[in-house]
Amino acid sequence: MKPYQNQNSSKKKQVEKMFDSISFEYDNLNRLISAGNDVKWRKNIYKIAERLNPVDILDIATGTADIALELSKIKGSKITGLDISEKMLDVGRQKVTERSLENKVSLVSGDAENLSFSKNTFDLISIGFGVRNFQNLEKGLLESFRVLREGGTLIVLETSVPQNRLVKLFYLLFSRTFIPLVGFLFSKDKKAYKYLQKSAEEFPSGESFSQILKSCGFKNVHIMPLMLGASSIYVAKKH
Ligand SMILES: C[S@@+](CC[C@H](N)C(=O)[O-])C[C@H]1O[C@@H](n2cnc3c(N)ncnc32)[C@H](O)[C@@H]1O
Repeated sequence: MKPYQNQNSSKKKQVEKMFDSISFEYDNLNRLISAGNDVKWRKNIYKIAERLNPVDILDIATGTADIALELSKIKGSKITGLDISEKMLDVGRQKVTERSLENKVSLVSGDAENLSFSKNTFDLISIGFGVRNFQNLEKGLLESFRVLREGGTLIVLETSVPQNRLVKLFYLLFSRTFIPLVGFLFSKDKKAYKYLQKSAEEFPSGESFSQILKSCGFKNVHIMPLMLGASSIYVAKKH
């Protein structure tokens, strides 16, 4: 699905425009919608990654760079954060400068579905709340697979729909009312919040997403449900 259903432009162009338009409020509203849990979820990515001692790390759909900044705590690592939204990157660049991390974290403009890196470049790739915004999910994942080194690891954090029927009911009630309300009250781009809520509901999660990862060549896919399944971390290996 696209953010602005009544416009003809591609999903990619619309996603770029949407994140450009919400870049300044993104961090605060993200925290509000997830009740601060998004911060913990990104820390989980760091905990998983740290044990693997990666040196070259690519954070795809880095946005305002929170995951890139978490991963920069790994000793000896070099992080490249990549995103199609220049305005999200601008917010991220400010944070990198404030923390004097310019030598460790570089933020670049780019498309997850057409990466400009050579094959086998990175030890670890992270993608936080990015894959459901890809225009062509498989193309994006195949690109990650290509630029990952043999034995490298992909970590995906994405919203998911809880499996338990009762929890799912509460989740749907919450997301269908609270997320659009947050957009209505605090954003000039209300359609963005409708899109964020609907795309979360429609995106394949759990075993379905795991199968897609496997079909793109990834092996040993592990699923870690978070907050009763409202989000999930997927850890997958290249060989
Ligand atoms: C919900 S934000 C997530 C940002 C960040 N990873 C986080 O954890 O907060 C999704 C990001 O994905 C980016 N994005 C969507 N499609 C992309 C693509 N094809 N290539 C690169 N970035 C993309 C958007 O511009 C946006 O910044």
